[in-house]
Amino acid sequence: MIKKIGVLSGGGDSPAINAAIRAIYLKASQYGYKVIGIKNGWEGLVKGNIVELDRESVSGILGEGGTIIGTSRTNPFKIENGVEKVKENIKKFELDAIITIGGDDTNGVITRLTQYGIKGVGVPQTVDNDIAHSDYAIGSDSALEVVTDCLDKLHTTASSHSRIMIVEIMGRDSGWLALSGGIAGGADVILIPEVAFDYDEIVNVIEKRRERGKDFTIIAVAEGAKPAEGEEQVTASGAIDSFGHVQLGGIGNVIAREIEKRTGYGTRVVILGHLQRGGRPSAFDRIVATRLGAKAVELVHEGHFGQMAVMENGAITSVPLEKAIKEEKPMDQELYELSKLLH
Ligand code: F6P
Repeated sequence: MIKKIGVLSGGGDSPAINAAIRAIYLKASQYGYKVIGIKNGWEGLVKGNIVELDRESVSGILGEGGTIIGTSRTNPFKIENGVEKVKENIKKFELDAIITIGGDDTNGVITRLTQYGIKGVGVPQTVDNDIAHSDYAIGSDSALEVVTDCLDKLHTTASSHSRIMIVEIMGRDSGWLALSGGIAGGADVILIPEVAFDYDEIVNVIEKRRERGKDFTIIAVAEGAKPAEGEEQVTASGAIDSFGHVQLGGIGNVIAREIEKRTGYGTRVVILGHLQRGGRPSAFDRIVATRLGAKAVELVHEGHFGQMAVMENGAITSVPLEKAIKEEKPMDQELYELSKLLH
């Protein structure tokens, strides 16, 4: 019998989390359930930091970016007695189920915790859009809008100065954002982590464009992309988070130096960074987040724990968390092939 649901957002934020929280609250209220906001992701359940949600606290947040309950990259499995503390706090706050909004890491924790008898349901959220069985992770469409807008803007200045503009886009292992944003924003070269790149090919595109009178080139590169020469991903610092991820950043500068060396043309680098995760959610993200938030509560209501609410092949449905976390979302090969035509 469900009385109280805890909701948390974990990992990197994105603009549509609040839309999901609002839908979770409203759908849960329809069933007569209380909703508790767990502060700053899994940290809130380790430290016992919660906030009660009510109609007032979820009012007006649909179009607000970020997350009203905060987020962090806390992994209870990496904290001494972390799992025990989570269990204790779930008992203390009388939470009958947990809804987790996040990527593989955040939802991976609830997947593991189900083995300890904790009842949970996941909602996919990451600008990387790399969660298996989910057409969209909420937040990714808003980030795509940012990337597209920035590439549009960079076209005018790159063209005025006849420059090679290298635009670094988020995406640790997944090039979805760079690929989709690159296509939408008319990038001439798109480099993603899934396919090692070749400097000769990049220079070839630059030179071919110049032969056609296009003296500028826009290169969209995912932060996790690497050259075919088998080099490591470029890191911004040695910092490693509690899920073992190193902080990436700087591949744009590496590419710029190499291209300048090979061609002598002026290059500039723009790292879009956390701008991609900021601001207001797109209309599409608001709708998907609302639908997935409501679906997650339905799953709780029906007792379908250990599931993730997803949009798969356009339909709102669910998949086992285990499956969504373990499997890798394949790169869209057709989209990648298409991208190579567009310069
Ligand atoms: O996981 C989403 C993401 O935006 C990645 O694309 C990026 O590598 C990472 O988060 C950055 O994380 P942080 O906000 O901790 O710098």
